Amino acid sequence: MLVLGIESSCDETGVALVRDGRLVAQQLATQIAAHAVFGGVVPEIASREHLRLLPGLCRTLFAESGVAPTDLEGIAVSRGPGLLGGLLVGVAVAKSLALATGAALVGVDHLMAHLLAPRLEQGLLFPAVGLLVSGGHTHTYRLRSAVAFELLGRTLDDAAGECFDKVAKRLNLPYPGGRRIDELADRAEPDPNLFPLAYVDNQSLDFSFSGLKTAVMTYVDAHPELVRPHMDAGEAARDSHLARVCASLNFVIGETLRIKVRRALARVPEARALVVAGGVAANSRVRRVMAELAGEHGLRLVMPSLPLCTDNAAMVAAAGEVLLAHGLRHGLDLDAVPRGRKIPWDFVA
Ligand code: KG4
Ligand code: ZN
Repeated sequence: MLVLGIESSCDETGVALVRDGRLVAQQLATQIAAHAVFGGVVPEIASREHLRLLPGLCRTLFAESGVAPTDLEGIAVSRGPGLLGGLLVGVAVAKSLALATGAALVGVDHLMAHLLAPRLEQGLLFPAVGLLVSGGHTHTYRLRSAVAFELLGRTLDDAAGECFDKVAKRLNLPYPGGRRIDELADRAEPDPNLFPLAYVDNQSLDFSFSGLKTAVMTYVDAHPELVRPHMDAGEAARDSHLARVCASLNFVIGETLRIKVRRALARVPEARALVVAGGVAANSRVRRVMAELAGEHGLRLVMPSLPLCTDNAAMVAAAGEVLLAHGLRHGLDLDAVPRGRKIPWDFVA
């Protein structure tokens, strides 16, 4: 099946073509430069950028792949969770193309798309435990199949990615901060006792990262020399104290995820695989910890390569193809769902 995927839920504008589980072509335009000056994503700017970029990206995608819009059998779009303005732009483009071409429309849960992304590289294996770690979410799931997910644990406050991003902003590191912290962390050994492991001395599968964020902020306040007056990545790279702080943050987040995912695995003894996805799955420490956990439990580790971890349209097309293959699609009344609201199971036959 030939499916077009559209991604516009945050600050990456993407379109991609997937055919029978293989990526045919994709176009991805990052908005980092537009938001960097504000140190974070500005929703209104993001939606205007999606609107400006999507038509050109579609034209280039079709021209470079030799695919005609009328060849499309399915059109998949991230319908949420995400920033509402951006989602509305993507959903409107998807509906227009579906109406013009007659292809089947399907709205995709952005988080499900992250978890299904590895199908483009290594295939999937179920049942599995899924860890979704991104800028807005830290979730664990029991994955019964590619279309049957059960939420096991979630963050009670900040997501792991948000903790990385807010700390990076306080340190005046260039946006987006998670990747910068990870790069700096590579230059030092962590101090395991510098920051607390939060919300682990219980039986809960839920996460809490706001206390850790506050602990790091408090430490930075007490050591103002850590904060770069200018966003100078080169100068930051020479600061060994900063590197140790970053390595220690990487360490605590990695260990917190290890404890909670181990707990989730104990609740899903039938699991055959551990799926790790979302932007923070690009983190070097998180990748190492999850590889160790999978090894410890004799599970197949299903984890996308770095470009497939962060937001992209290939994962949306890949997830859309799975839904369509299960006979699940939407009508032209498909709604976008903002962050914080549950994605409804409102497919039409
Ligand atoms: O999945 P994603 O691209 O967007 C959302 O759906 O949120 O995730 C973005 C998040 C940001 O918080 C970003 O800082 C984080 O992923 N991130 C990382 C790394 N690369 C991206 N965090 C830690 N280490 C990284 N290497
Ligand atoms: Zn995402």
